[in-house]
Amino acid sequence: VQQAIAVLDSGVGGLTVVTELFRQLPQEKIIYFGDTARAPYGPRTQQEVLKFTYQIVDYLLQFDPKLLVIACNTATAAALEDIRCHVSIPVIGVVHPGARAAVRYTKSGIIGVIGTEGTVRSGAYESALLSLSPTIKVHSLACPSFVTLVEQARYNTEEAQKAVESSLIDFRLKPIDCLILGCTHYPFLSSLIQDCMGKQVKLVNSADETAREISTVLHHRGQLAQSSLTPVHHFFCSGHPALFQQIAWSWLGSGMKDCPVVSQVSHLE
Ligand code: DGL
Repeated sequence: VQQAIAVLDSGVGGLTVVTELFRQLPQEKIIYFGDTARAPYGPRTQQEVLKFTYQIVDYLLQFDPKLLVIACNTATAAALEDIRCHVSIPVIGVVHPGARAAVRYTKSGIIGVIGTEGTVRSGAYESALLSLSPTIKVHSLACPSFVTLVEQARYNTEEAQKAVESSLIDFRLKPIDCLILGCTHYPFLSSLIQDCMGKQVKLVNSADETAREISTVLHHRGQLAQSSLTPVHHFFCSGHPALFQQIAWSWLGSGMKDCPVVSQVSHLE
């Protein structure tokens, strides 16, 4: 059997990383878990997010994956180091890849980060950015209304546009040349965010760089999928699967066409 890459998020946000995995590593089998019943994670305490992340990791490990992706910035900030110490497979988070992509892009050295309250409070991006480039200046902002809009499939609405504009009204005046979408849900809102910030600001998200890191790690370990057969992916969520499935199908498009239905797992606690 082909060993899978296991991917987790609080909900549909990690699908933005899955899109890049489908593109960059089309032979890899994906097992995805979205904790939709307990999203958003952003307002929760670090201890709570750590506990939930452990529960999902335990669930995913029964499938014997070869690598685990914490495709959620809030969970990466709260749990990555801990989980890494407790599992024997490589664990990849999304904060360092996002920081790397921004450092590669910025010319002015002034970078913006938007994310959940949990991610912003943790200071994870500041630490990651400063560890790469000590003279970088960082402006951060929590945007608590964005995740729910995405989870409820309301990301293409006028309401979403208003929420983006009112959240970024002051932040758009910051002299940044790139903005990290420090929450895996935010790429769903990227055209609204881009319109609001203006063309001079480059939006950076972790998905592309995270997929590259996964590709590099698997290559080094000699674990890239060999089969030329189309892999069969599995998607699980803890809440009602219909909405998750609708969002997954519209976001992943043809990548989902061979996928079985999304299964609900409601016994994590
Ligand atoms: N998508 C997640 C992140 O990247 C979490 C959003 C949430 O559940 O608040 O932070």
